[in-house]
Amino acid sequence: MKILITGGAGFIGSNLAKRLVNDGHEVVVLDSLLRGNKLDKDTFAKVNFIKGDVRDLELMISASKNCDLIFHFAAVLGVDIVADNPVETMDVEVIGTRNMIEAANINNVKKVMYASTSGIYGHSAFENVLTEEVLVDPRTSYAMAKRYNEIYLASHHQEKGLNVVSLRFFNVYGGNQDNRMVVPLFFEQAIANESITVFGTGKQTRDFTYIDDTVESCVKLMDIQGCHIVNIANEAEWTIAELAVKIKEVTKSSSEIIYLEAPKKRYDYEVERRVGSSEKLMSLTNFKPQTSLQEGLELIYNQNYNH
Ligand SMILES: NC(=O)c1ccc[n+]([C@@H]2O[C@H](COP(=O)([O-])OP(=O)(O)OC[C@H]3O[C@@H](n4cnc5c(N)ncnc54)[C@H](O)[C@@H]3O)[C@@H](O)[C@H]2O)c1
Repeated sequence: MKILITGGAGFIGSNLAKRLVNDGHEVVVLDSLLRGNKLDKDTFAKVNFIKGDVRDLELMISASKNCDLIFHFAAVLGVDIVADNPVETMDVEVIGTRNMIEAANINNVKKVMYASTSGIYGHSAFENVLTEEVLVDPRTSYAMAKRYNEIYLASHHQEKGLNVVSLRFFNVYGGNQDNRMVVPLFFEQAIANESITVFGTGKQTRDFTYIDDTVESCVKLMDIQGCHIVNIANEAEWTIAELAVKIKEVTKSSSEIIYLEAPKKRYDYEVERRVGSSEKLMSLTNFKPQTSLQEGLELIYNQNYNH
């Protein structure tokens, strides 16, 4: 297949590009390099790389020419960055996705896979795990724009028959991630034997999904027709305090774990509990994420720090 990945130089996109190239696909990456280039040398040499912005319609049309599938992953993210740049965040989501759809229509692309977020669940009520059916509660510019795009894409399926998968990623983590996210930040602090900084009580929970499982889920969903919203989750709930302890242990660090009051701008993002069901993913693909947090953290340590 010929596949366009917007945001393909980012953390998830670069890992997906590597996998798709290895699987023999022709891959086009469009990325503004806002966050630098996470594609490894080998993959970079094998993709058709286009530096540019998803808000540029002409560029999106030329990038998606003759493509069978678009992974639309370009986004502004990271709690502090989004909190400081809500307009830019929403513009990239809304204008970028509109351009992506227009380009897909013009070039007769049959399927798009969009990176949504578990953030749209916000403070949704749930019992054991969040299923895709619970009432969502997007409160931030980022989550609201992601939810809007899920519905916008579903509308294109309804009216125009476009095949659509919206992927609700739950805290993806892995080796080449940067410290906007909690796992690489704690690693960095632990390796330097500096204080590991937990915001709030540390009792807030998250569901951490290892990058290889995330990529595998994306690949497995490439064949699915129709319109679907799918959690990409590990179905395991860990507190942030437990995460800090685990990273301290894995890195054999002498860091102290300290608890700080979260800055006010982070309040909208401070969700008490989040853990996702991967039942729907399993029913569609016969696959669900399987790397435990312990295994994933050890993989990161062994691949990046244990020399
Ligand atoms: N990492 C996670 O845990 C997580 C969780 C939920 C959702 N997501 C979503 O998954 C997708 C990928 O996330 P990631 O972790 O790889 O983030 P990332 O920041 O590493 O990658 C995003 C990429 O998009 C690019 N980009 C930003 N604005 C752009 C623009 N206007 N035009 C073109 N490129 C632009 C950046 O340069 C970057 O390379 C995003 O849509 C994100 O919202 C990620």
